[in-house]
Amino acid sequence: MKKPLKLTVNGEPREFFVEPYFSLLDALRDELHLTGTKKGCDEGDCGACTVLLDGKPVTSCLVLAHSAHDSQVTTIEGLAGQDGLLHPVQQAFVTHGGLQCGFCTPGLVMSAVGLLQENSDPSVDEVKYAIGGNLCRCTGYSKVIESIMAAAQEIRDGNG
Ligand code: FES
Ligand code: FES
Repeated sequence: MKKPLKLTVNGEPREFFVEPYFSLLDALRDELHLTGTKKGCDEGDCGACTVLLDGKPVTSCLVLAHSAHDSQVTTIEGLAGQDGLLHPVQQAFVTHGGLQCGFCTPGLVMSAVGLLQENSDPSVDEVKYAIGGNLCRCTGYSKVIESIMAAAQEIRDGNG
């Protein structure tokens, strides 16, 4: 039987009913219709479902929805500004060709945002470590890393 769940999602308080066995990923996609967060493997291996939970990147398929009660969740839908401008990480992926089919992209972007919130001047190795759980079948990662390094520069320059 569904139970009530309270979350703040992308800055908005949300209260809704969720099955006790639902993952945070399924709650976001099936109950809140936030389908920007992708379901790849559903077992913690691909990173497509990455969101920020209280500011930290997590694979939302491995988080029980009810264990996140009262938490802050940020999804890919919450990154663009009120003015509609993309977040610097999103913009950098577009400008630097960091995506192809795009299935992995929301997860990669959320991992990168989580990193840059903690460290806006990462080394390439730190970027590689931060996205180590995000699998991409298309890009070969070079452009992804280039995009994240460019976004970090934008943020340091005060454009993010
Ligand atoms: Fe969560 Fe793959 S769908 S890690
Ligand atoms: Fe296709 Fe990464 S862009 S899986």
